[in-house]
Amino acid sequence: MATDGSSKWDSLWINGRLATMRADREAYGAIEGGAIGVTGGRLSWIGAMAALSDAPERLAGAVHDLRGRWVTPGLIDCHTHLVYGGDRAREFEMRLKGASYEEIARAGGGIRSTVTATRAATEADLLAVAERRLTALRREGVTVVEIKSGYGLDLATERKMLRVARALGARYPVSVRTTFLGAHALPPEFEGRPDDYIDVVIGEMLPAVAAEGLADAVDAFCERIGFTAEQTRRLFAAAKRLGLPVKLHAEQLSDMGGTTLAASFRALSADHLEYVSAEGIAAMAQASTVAVLLPGAFYFLREKQLPPVEALRQAGVPIAIATDSNPGTSPTTSLLLMLNMACTFFRMTPEEALAGVTRNAAKALAMQDSHGTLETGKAADFVLWNIDHPAELAYHIGLNPCAGVVKAGMSVEPPAE
Ligand code: NIG
Ligand code: FE
Repeated sequence: MATDGSSKWDSLWINGRLATMRADREAYGAIEGGAIGVTGGRLSWIGAMAALSDAPERLAGAVHDLRGRWVTPGLIDCHTHLVYGGDRAREFEMRLKGASYEEIARAGGGIRSTVTATRAATEADLLAVAERRLTALRREGVTVVEIKSGYGLDLATERKMLRVARALGARYPVSVRTTFLGAHALPPEFEGRPDDYIDVVIGEMLPAVAAEGLADAVDAFCERIGFTAEQTRRLFAAAKRLGLPVKLHAEQLSDMGGTTLAASFRALSADHLEYVSAEGIAAMAQASTVAVLLPGAFYFLREKQLPPVEALRQAGVPIAIATDSNPGTSPTTSLLLMLNMACTFFRMTPEEALAGVTRNAAKALAMQDSHGTLETGKAADFVLWNIDHPAELAYHIGLNPCAGVVKAGMSVEPPAE
């Protein structure tokens, strides 16, 4: 709160062009000549400067001139695997010589090779590599990031990954949401015994990470090279008993019915969705489950099947966009590039893409009451951009127009590499 009795707000940002991204407004919810009041790390006033009740300096302890810059809500990357050891550049070479992602996975490469590297890495090693990836995301205005485990596949390593994710949130001005993805792949120790592994995930790993408060949600990879719908159902039932929300890697390579299953558990999101059926889409609409589309994985796997964007639109399913940052299928740390790919590959509009990394991404993380739009009462997370129109955020390829980031009301300049 303002300490000086004559000041209403801690700070006031004036002369901005505000893309509020409010769901009930058209055209980015834009407010030209706008001002933002911040108090106690929250947005206490949003509107046109003409509507301010007094001169700016009499309204706030500190006044910042945005000088006509565009401002958006802080960007939210709602699906990442940011913490892992090693890389898969050689696997990339193998794919370029003709091997498919599934073939490499079946031959013991793929996720399992990252599991070997992640098990071998110390917590400090993992933190150091993940910090670099997070820094890259933050430079482009990311203020909230979801981070999954899933490259440990044993309790010790899954915990190690989740602790690193939590440490990132404690060290940097970014809100981290963690997801337990123990059911990402079958570890070599359980070859041929997937149900036994799921028993361990449900009976030992999940209760342990939940008891330590290390997981905000539970995810699985429901796929021919992952787990069946029935194994996923057992895991989700266990998550529900612990009061944890679920989400799912669903219908990425084939239609396994995972989306319908996820929706039946009121999943926060179903992610990937290239092969989702009409039934799956209807189930998502019914359950208010967000469709998280991952154009980086679509691109890197040279997928031909497009996610059914028009059918999702027609059904009123909110669409989010994320990096899926991971070593095997989406080795990217650029959320802005994902906006461009969402438009070029998936034919989303730049406004839909921006909603996909703000308002709808917040919903995918159950943070819609506090994040994702510029609205009074929400967290004062916002980004300043050197652009003339918000469509530029999806237009440039490789240019970073981020001119500043405010997290919980504080200016936080991402460090230079
Ligand atoms: O989201 N689909 C499963 N999980 C990751 C890929 C993980 C990997 O190949 O390392 C994904 O695409
Ligand atoms: Fe993923």
